[in-house]
Amino acid sequence: MSTPENQHSIPSTWLVPSAPPLEIDFGCHRGAFLIGMAALHPASNFLGIEKQSDRVDKCNARALRLGLNNAAAIQGLGAEALQPLPTASVSIFHLYFPDPWPKRRHSSRRVFQKKFLSEIRRILRPDGVLRLMTDDAPYFGEMRELTREGWAEIPWDDGRETVLTAFEKTFRNRGQIPNQAALKPL
Ligand SMILES: C[S@@+](CC[C@H](N)C(=O)[O-])C[C@H]1O[C@@H](n2cnc3c(N)ncnc32)[C@H](O)[C@@H]1O
Repeated sequence: MSTPENQHSIPSTWLVPSAPPLEIDFGCHRGAFLIGMAALHPASNFLGIEKQSDRVDKCNARALRLGLNNAAAIQGLGAEALQPLPTASVSIFHLYFPDPWPKRRHSSRRVFQKKFLSEIRRILRPDGVLRLMTDDAPYFGEMRELTREGWAEIPWDDGRETVLTAFEKTFRNRGQIPNQAALKPL
């Protein structure tokens, strides 16, 4: 349940032009990646967006407990959740293991669609990066098809220290290598 302590909106100081770099972890789950990255990189702000409010609460409670002022999560669903973010405000957009909806009749529920991608493009800075990771090969193929024009692939390894996401950990523990792409807008 939400309490005043862990109920968050986007901190307004994160959106001013002089703010530290802003990274989005879309579908942040309970915050394994969000909180881990915020601890490793105190000079950047990390905003999680997650549809399930109990998970949002868990992220914010963990950030509070660890004293991480550069991590926050908000509840939001799909492309609409990106609308409050100003144009060219985001340095890195992480989309890791979005729900694959593998049945053909459910594929329209996938979050990564044209409208979502054009919102990502709008909020990314010109030097921003979109990072995608999924175990689902057909979904990854769809993501690459949608980003075929207007995006250029850059090396995945950007030299920064990183942490595994919760789902990445599970898949890697099973010996599975996820599909990954880092893309910059052209
Ligand atoms: C498969 S989990 C992956 C979690 C995490 N990114 C990771 O790699 O461990 C997908 C997460 O995205 C959230 N989610 C699914 N669809 C969403 C949507 N349309 N908008 C926001 N969050 C969504 C789910 O509630 C879930 O926490």
